[in-house]
Amino acid sequence: MDAHPTHCRHLLTLLDLSAVEVRALLARASEFKRMLKAGQDYQPLRRRTLAMIFEKSSTRTRVSFETGMVQLGGHALFLSPRDTQLGRGEPVEDSARVLSRMVDAVMIRTFRQETVERFAAYSSVPVINGLTDRLHPCQMLADMQTYQEYRGDIQGHRVAWIGDGNNMCHSFMEAARLLDFELRIACPEGFEPDAVLLAAAGDRCTVVHDAEAAADGASLVATDVWTSMGQEDEQARRQTLFAPFQVTDAVMSRATKHALFMHCLPAHRGEEVAASVIDGPQSVVWDEAENRLHVQKALLEFLIPPVA
Ligand code: CP
Ligand code: NVA
Repeated sequence: MDAHPTHCRHLLTLLDLSAVEVRALLARASEFKRMLKAGQDYQPLRRRTLAMIFEKSSTRTRVSFETGMVQLGGHALFLSPRDTQLGRGEPVEDSARVLSRMVDAVMIRTFRQETVERFAAYSSVPVINGLTDRLHPCQMLADMQTYQEYRGDIQGHRVAWIGDGNNMCHSFMEAARLLDFELRIACPEGFEPDAVLLAAAGDRCTVVHDAEAAADGASLVATDVWTSMGQEDEQARRQTLFAPFQVTDAVMSRATKHALFMHCLPAHRGEEVAASVIDGPQSVVWDEAENRLHVQKALLEFLIPPVA
């Protein structure tokens, strides 16, 4: 009765990939980008379908996966809890067994990491984490592609994470482990990242409580919203506590001269980042957003077996 059917690969966390696989995906993503700009068609996923379950809002994730599937010759289905039985309480395990008998891969954006793990345990096709409260591995792949394209391999560099110890911070921590860079996290007291992930990252990640100190000598400065999806009730409190953690020109001036600024978006100018930084010359936020398309196409090609 239990499905547990195949040994297909999933992307539930960045650590589902090896460092070699991540670097190969980044290279493939840049190749896909060149091919698209050269007008070259490449459609290995003809007749393939990606189901996309969204229990939270999205602009970039939805559009990049849907467009990516179309460009690869396939098709994507947008499924919201408002319109599916999943939203009326059909068990995740049952939904996984049913959907994976029809489609070739499933992307899920939801609250609990455990939900994507349960879904994957019962799915006979690859499952991709399109963001949970804990992790955002697809964004991390796009960010690493972006860094690679501007500055080459990130190994040995220092990265500053300024803000909440949230899902994006956790994915940066996993990337630091995998790709061997140093991550300095500056967050308010009480908003540190998960202690288990921090311990697992060893000397690759340290927490400080000062934005300028974290940015010192960094090649990359990254931030994210202070209030993530699902935390709307805490917004007023967070705005006060996070105020000293805005990425300002003063923070950027502590980083290296050629440091990049990243934000997964959506952004709030004047909160987590000053407009002069996100709209300034060091910001690569639009490349990060665009690279979601290219790197997820590389990921889909990697996870979905070619048509026989
Ligand atoms: N960065 C990101 O995942 O954006 P969306 O919430 O718009 O998908
Ligand atoms: N930390 C943010 C990321 C949005 C892409 C959130 O979870 O809402």
